[in-house]
Amino acid sequence: MTPEHDGHLGAWLNARLPVRQFLVSFLAERIPGGARWAYVFGSICLALLAVQFVTGAAIALFYVPAPNAALASISYLSSQVAFGRLVLGIHHWSANIFVGVILVHVAQTFLYGAYKRPRELVWLSGVMLLLLIQGFHFTGFVLPWDQKGYWATEVGTSIMQTAPLVGDLLMRVVRGGADLGALTLSHFYAVHVLVLPAAVVLFAGFHLVSMRWAGPAGTWRKSSAAAEEKGFFPHQVFKDAVAVMLLLLLIVGLAAFDYAPPAYVADPTDTSVVPRPEWNFLFLFQLQHYFPGSLEWVGTMVVPGMLVGILLAVPFLDRGSERHPRRRLGMIIGGAAIGLTVAALTVLAVASDPAAWAYATRPVVRTGARLYADNACASCHRVRGEGGLSGPDLSFIGQKRDLDWLRTYVRDPDSLNPSAVMPPQKGLSDREIRAIATYLHSLR
Ligand code: HEC
Repeated sequence: MTPEHDGHLGAWLNARLPVRQFLVSFLAERIPGGARWAYVFGSICLALLAVQFVTGAAIALFYVPAPNAALASISYLSSQVAFGRLVLGIHHWSANIFVGVILVHVAQTFLYGAYKRPRELVWLSGVMLLLLIQGFHFTGFVLPWDQKGYWATEVGTSIMQTAPLVGDLLMRVVRGGADLGALTLSHFYAVHVLVLPAAVVLFAGFHLVSMRWAGPAGTWRKSSAAAEEKGFFPHQVFKDAVAVMLLLLLIVGLAAFDYAPPAYVADPTDTSVVPRPEWNFLFLFQLQHYFPGSLEWVGTMVVPGMLVGILLAVPFLDRGSERHPRRRLGMIIGGAAIGLTVAALTVLAVASDPAAWAYATRPVVRTGARLYADNACASCHRVRGEGGLSGPDLSFIGQKRDLDWLRTYVRDPDSLNPSAVMPPQKGLSDREIRAIATYLHSLR
């Protein structure tokens, strides 16, 4: 962007806005140690935020925030509108991958000691952004008003009740009443599409401005003059762009081939549902188990509050100028201990549910679940509150039947039960039948 490149439009604009000064200073940023693939995660977060805004706006054009219409509006978007299912799938996958990318970004900033003076405000606004993204998940899950989202939110909001003194009031305010209903949807929708996006834009702007003002931290090592030459533009911009493109391809692929929109409307009277929060809240769900009875609020309020407090305090606990991880061993060990505890609680929560564990760890079970969905088994059978009722509930079928029995029955019910109503599955290969049977066998 030298003056010679300015056309008429450039000159016109420049007389009215400091466009050239902005671009020159924006692109000329130096990175201590030079551009690296390791620095792409912040830009990926920004790109995913844009993806969520665009797909979210598209979904909002069709979504109706009312219990009797929400799921129908999502189904309509998914099945009748061109690219509707793809847009929903991208919003879903990008939201989940977003949390993972933020965690990597936070862990890396921590390892590099990049929160140190003068970057404390960059870290603080980053922690706020992490909490806001969790807020998007918490408010977004109930919006389709389907079984999973309804029950996860029922559990999630009932946790608020455990707060001392104000718990009941808090829960009623959030739900808009004693139970989940039309006002819950209005509340969660308004927060999801108005309050949180405004807050995210504010904090993301603050994050970027404070980061650029202090400059990137770069590596903790002394760098060579040659490496220093590789600054933000074009070197880091190129790496960021490649990483963003690859991740977007992955997200579109997952949305196209591994996404099913929510299909079963919430049934508040269904007692067969085993409510479970989303994966990124599972550690809190697990934590509750260790604080029974009157201590419950320690697990639901005190420990999570302390976790946020520690995160916010990081730049003020570790104040020396030393950034090399080996010379900040206390911090690194403390951080790793907290990170591993959260990961372990998540694994324990998944492992406490045999079906969820099998689903998470055995590919053949996932294949079977997909084939089960593709072959309309759910139109007659219910699994954990999802599916039709004309056949028996299969939520715990693995406790009742063995694998061979299930294989035989799914292929040809008549061979085991001459009066069977269920249609035989002649079109499926042996391997597909085995995958479905393995999936059913894991339900216990
Ligand atoms: C048209 C409705 C319908 C569809 C579609 C259907 N089933 Fe069934 N299924 C039934 C009914 C009804 C029964 C009860 C026994 C009978 O009449 O066959 C049953 C029984 C079963 C049983 C035995 C349960 C037990 O404890 O005895 C299994 C396992 C099963 N179905 C699996 C499947 C799978 C897997 C699919 C998809 C490939 C499927 N069903 C599709 C209606 C259906």
